[in-house]
Amino acid sequence: MNESSKANLEEALNEGKYIRKVRSFVKREGRLTKGQAAAIEKCWSSMGLEHSQGLLDFSQVFGNDNDVVLEIGFGMGKSLVEMAKNAPHLNFIGIEVHRPGVGACLMEADEAGLTNLRVFEHDAVEVLADCIADGSLTTMQLFFPDPWHKKRHHKRRIVQPEFVESLRQKLRVGGVFHMATDWENYAEHMLEVMTAAPGYENISETQDYVPRPDNRPLTKFEQRGHRLGHGVWDLMFKRSN
Ligand SMILES: C[S@@+](CC[C@H](N)C(=O)[O-])C[C@H]1O[C@@H](n2cnc3c(N)ncnc32)[C@H](O)[C@@H]1O
Repeated sequence: MNESSKANLEEALNEGKYIRKVRSFVKREGRLTKGQAAAIEKCWSSMGLEHSQGLLDFSQVFGNDNDVVLEIGFGMGKSLVEMAKNAPHLNFIGIEVHRPGVGACLMEADEAGLTNLRVFEHDAVEVLADCIADGSLTTMQLFFPDPWHKKRHHKRRIVQPEFVESLRQKLRVGGVFHMATDWENYAEHMLEVMTAAPGYENISETQDYVPRPDNRPLTKFEQRGHRLGHGVWDLMFKRSN
């Protein structure tokens, strides 16, 4: 290989052209507000988790053996903090790639004085693979994931057969994967993928969607959707084996 093709290959590898998988997000370089930056500075040592830590020992992380709920893509963290506040008998782990969201979540968690919440600022696919023990989660939450509206982008949707299988392995048997979306075509896609996935059982009596459970806080985003006449679809699947 001559020097110029070597340089081209190196550049392509650096850009992740060959080794990068399709990702469910595009990293936005949003600016942190002063409050978000201060919350990260103040709370990271007590609430932050790093992918580089590797496999987590939950009882060490939380100082107790309570059940663990994991949320992927918590956005600004409003509903995650609300849920953690309402369920002090459970432990919560949130994963988000958007740093301002992580800052906003920590700000709210700090104000609420939460001790049962930890967060990752990292790709959830990698956190699941490297940091979460098999059979260790009670609930897995995925609320309003990026819908990737355009057909040519559907492959970026996080709910795919391989992903839901990796997730099933992390749930304990009987544990629940709870999804919600306001995009009907994504709801149909979720239902199709989950119905075909081995080892899951749909909790819905009608074998499709479930009514919004009371413990999922109604966010501003969702309230706005209701006002605009948008639907919301909740799906809950239990790990059956
Ligand atoms: C449409 S937002 C919804 C946020 C929040 N759940 C809500 O209901 O308001 C989807 C979020 O998922 C995050 N996200 C997408 N893929 C992710 C991944 N692989 N790991 C972690 N976060 C991810 C995005 O950064 C974004 O904040």
